[in-house]
Amino acid sequence: MTNEEAFARFEETREKMLKGGGDARIEAQHKRGKLTARERIGALLDEDSFSEQNTYVVPRSHDFGMDKKKFPGDGVVSGSGRINGRKVYLSSQDFTVLGGSLGEMHAIRIADAQIDALKTGSPFIQINDSGGARIQEGTLSLDGYAKIFRANTLSSGVIPQISIILGPCAGGAVYSPAITDFIMMVEKVSNMYITGPQVIKAVTGEEISQEDLGGARAHTFKSGNAHFRFKSEDECLAFTRRLLSYLPSNNKEKPPVSECTDPVDRPTPELKDLLPENQRKPYDIRSLINSAFDADSFIEVQADFAQNIVVGFAKLNGYTVGIMANQPKMMAAVLDINASDKAARFVRFCDSFNIPVVSLVDVPGFLPGTAQEHGGIIRHGAKLLFAIAEATVPKIALIVRKGYGGAFIAMASKNLGYDRVLAYPAAEIAVMGAEGAANIIFRKEIEAAEDPAAKRQEKIEEFKVQVMNPFIAAGYGYVDDVIDPAQTRKALWKSLEMYLGKEETRPVKKHGNMPL
Ligand code: HXC
Repeated sequence: MTNEEAFARFEETREKMLKGGGDARIEAQHKRGKLTARERIGALLDEDSFSEQNTYVVPRSHDFGMDKKKFPGDGVVSGSGRINGRKVYLSSQDFTVLGGSLGEMHAIRIADAQIDALKTGSPFIQINDSGGARIQEGTLSLDGYAKIFRANTLSSGVIPQISIILGPCAGGAVYSPAITDFIMMVEKVSNMYITGPQVIKAVTGEEISQEDLGGARAHTFKSGNAHFRFKSEDECLAFTRRLLSYLPSNNKEKPPVSECTDPVDRPTPELKDLLPENQRKPYDIRSLINSAFDADSFIEVQADFAQNIVVGFAKLNGYTVGIMANQPKMMAAVLDINASDKAARFVRFCDSFNIPVVSLVDVPGFLPGTAQEHGGIIRHGAKLLFAIAEATVPKIALIVRKGYGGAFIAMASKNLGYDRVLAYPAAEIAVMGAEGAANIIFRKEIEAAEDPAAKRQEKIEEFKVQVMNPFIAAGYGYVDDVIDPAQTRKALWKSLEMYLGKEETRPVKKHGNMPL
């Protein structure tokens, strides 16, 4: 073969590789409002930063006519590149090649990128758009998934892992994203389910559309499997770049510190008016977050799911913090099964990646009821206690209005592990609310009174003043400082600054046994 012929072969093979399943299938992909695997990589990475791995692999399997369906690259594009100058590894499944189905070599491409991400301490991002296990490759395909799941698990807590679902993700394929830290979904594009609508109809008789079963809204509002929901692929990919700017590349690094133009001693007088006089009246805790942390820096995680607790990342004087905040606007901010799961998993992510946790507390307790008890609120609530006690990152709590019972311990107890606890002047800290407490401990006195209703009110007030007052807890050392809401931003920053560089060790063990 002459050099010229070798070059012609190079050009022809390269063009075939770059075209994936060919022009017609690329057009079909675009018609569905979807980008191709390579276009997605182009939108995600810094310009011209992509280096491809295993570029020309083809299936080794020849069964069921696979010898005639060999596409260089085998239906997935993988390698490394940069996002805002920082290295990441990624894979992007190509639906135009055999429906993006996962065969042996396709899996090797993904797993190699995962392992190299781990070796180099770089985040791993997978873009999924696939019909699942390549049916023609049978157990080779199942083995491929096993490799990926294992690499996901080994990477967990070492490098951030993000799954972007931009098409179907069905059957056992869903478990790789489920092991990763964050799942992104796009409305009317993404689908995740173990068994699709047809199987469900055959087995249970239920009729449901793909979108209602496993679309972005189903997984952000109902199941809680997905963390972020978008209207378009472009919006999703741009957001992924932003999210990474809050995170370190691996568990040995601290998150990047960004330049802060918002003065850290900026007064927050608006927070004086945030709390309604009436303890039961709702307000939006996000107002406090938006006032106290760096302007426009808050990124809410799982905003649609378990809305009674708000979690997300923000910056404080340019430093990344993880916020966990009770949300009085939803179910009076009570902690239930889903809120406990959501907060516990978020805290564990923060702890894995050296992100300090700020807890904003206004919680009446854990949700009573048989559905919660029989659903395992004991086990689920325990996850949050476990996550906080286990975490070694700086943990700061601000008691905004009320902190009652076990929920107070989870959100703000120094002896559970919070390093610093602040409280607003009207904060109430107690085993339970004043009404409930008065009914129990003053029952006989109230019943014996000439006017039981008036007596009850008197006892409630007495309990509030004598027991719930933040200076009682401060007197025991459980609250470090009572602060003026107008100084919230400054007080939170000073608290964070006190604990930056904190190191804490734990007894040597293989791993704890979190109540799952
Ligand atoms: C091989 C597949 C495939 C698969 C799709 N294709 N899925 N090839 N293995 N799993 C091929 C199709 O044959 C077709 O090829 C091309 O991809 C496009 O598929 P279409 O069906 O034409 O596309 P569309 O109508 O958009 O439907 C997409 C789809 C559907 C919803 C994903 O293809 C589908 O239901 N596929 C099967 C999904 C599934 O049940 N997968 C197995 C899940 S079990 P041609 O050449 O005809 O155009 C699983 C177990 C994993 O994954 C366990 C891991 C632990």
